[in-house]
Amino acid sequence: PAYDGSESYLGAIDVGTGSTRFLIFNSKGVQIASHSIDLTQYFPSHEEHEQNPLEYVEASLKCIETACQKAGIPKTLFKGIGISNQRETIIAWNKETGKPFHNAIIWDDARTAEICHELQNLKIDFRSKTGLPISTYFSASKILWLIRNNSAVRKSLSENTCLFGTVETWMIYNLTKGKRYVSDISNASRTLLMNLRGFWDEEILAALDIPITALPEIVSSAEVYGYMKSGYLEGIPICGSLGDQQSALLGHQCVEAGSAKNTYGTGAFLLMSTGNDIIQSSTGLLTTVYGKFGPDGPIYYALEGSVENAGSAIKWALNKLRLFSTFAELEAQARTVADSDGVVCVSALSGLFAPHWRPDARGVIIGLTQHTTRAHILRALLEGICFRTKEVIDALLSDTPYKLNKLCVDGGMTKNVLFLEIQANILGVQLELPFEKDLTALGAAFAAGLGCGVYRSLDDIQKLNKNIEKIVDFTWDEQKRNEKISLWNKTIPKAFND
Ligand code: G3P
Repeated sequence: PAYDGSESYLGAIDVGTGSTRFLIFNSKGVQIASHSIDLTQYFPSHEEHEQNPLEYVEASLKCIETACQKAGIPKTLFKGIGISNQRETIIAWNKETGKPFHNAIIWDDARTAEICHELQNLKIDFRSKTGLPISTYFSASKILWLIRNNSAVRKSLSENTCLFGTVETWMIYNLTKGKRYVSDISNASRTLLMNLRGFWDEEILAALDIPITALPEIVSSAEVYGYMKSGYLEGIPICGSLGDQQSALLGHQCVEAGSAKNTYGTGAFLLMSTGNDIIQSSTGLLTTVYGKFGPDGPIYYALEGSVENAGSAIKWALNKLRLFSTFAELEAQARTVADSDGVVCVSALSGLFAPHWRPDARGVIIGLTQHTTRAHILRALLEGICFRTKEVIDALLSDTPYKLNKLCVDGGMTKNVLFLEIQANILGVQLELPFEKDLTALGAAFAAGLGCGVYRSLDDIQKLNKNIEKIVDFTWDEQKRNEKISLWNKTIPKAFND
């Protein structure tokens, strides 16, 4: 839609793993324009994944300029900018020069397995303090790796000039030209260093020997952090920040405790708001901060579970098995059969995450007969991803007092309508697919709107009209669902090889 001179506009910088983007929304949450630039990926070894943090800043400024040109909106109508970002990724830089000491170490980089092993020996209950298990996934072990392996980091730490930060910290620091060194609480909660109550945990910092002076001030997810110091939107406040999965939860307007979303990307990230309650999981899910929507507001929490392979399993079937050649063909083929005819596929191609947490698990395809066709296998592949989501949801529901009335969904795989139908059937729950596909960016724009007063409260956001593209209902009866689930439950142990 064209811009309206009486409207307020909000911008969202989304620094994801694959690309950096800038999106413009009006105050009703309608997207006006966007621009995206792919990020260069570096894989120094099979377990290492890096990016150049300078690229995040350059690409953001370029995206801002191009998206603003596309929209043609005068700068004066922009009220604020929010940031959503890949979480857990760590950058170290020199506060005097602003230069990074090393490439950003990306969230899925697994080089720190040995460090994590050492952390297991510490007598610290990381889970109850931070809501997270010790894992290469979170930021702490990446910071320790940089301290141990980069002499410039060590020298700078001894001179008190070294700064560590997650991606939003780096972005706010750079976009305000070093004026603010802050971390939004939802991102800080992914470091393994933040106490769930919202402060750097002194006992953890002491045990890991990380000085608090090398960590940013923890701030809320919606307040004015500073102002853009360069580029097309120079002078506009940066006033919202959320880790990308939390941001998508807000983009779906899931605020009430018990509301949940699943993003089907490479993997699937399922988050459920638990309101202002910290719920410790007994099923291996992560307890995480959802956000703090204003400096004086209460902290909102979420439970998070992830499915290791979603889009990546589909890509594997496409590229490695060559079972189909286009995504449209995948859906059309899978629709040629009424069901998988007893074929079950557990696509544990990189172990199994929540609630199993078995990195050693391997994929399984069972139930083949003379009659099995490519279509049955493709259908089983789609079903397998849906069953994994069911396992995470069952874990969420057993940890919480909530019932799931509907599941909000987004991400690339939601283009496959058959996949959505299977998911609704396996869950026995309605799925809600909004028209807006950039929920992550929309959440950051909402946070910015709260930070600059376009919205007075979360209530204003919840009341916005949500444009729904599709409600997908379930058609299986209880008996059919239970039969399928029981077959799945019998198959899962076969992935463990023990
Ligand atoms: O926890 C990692 C997550 O934030 C990455 O998200 O969308 O950049 O792959 P994405």
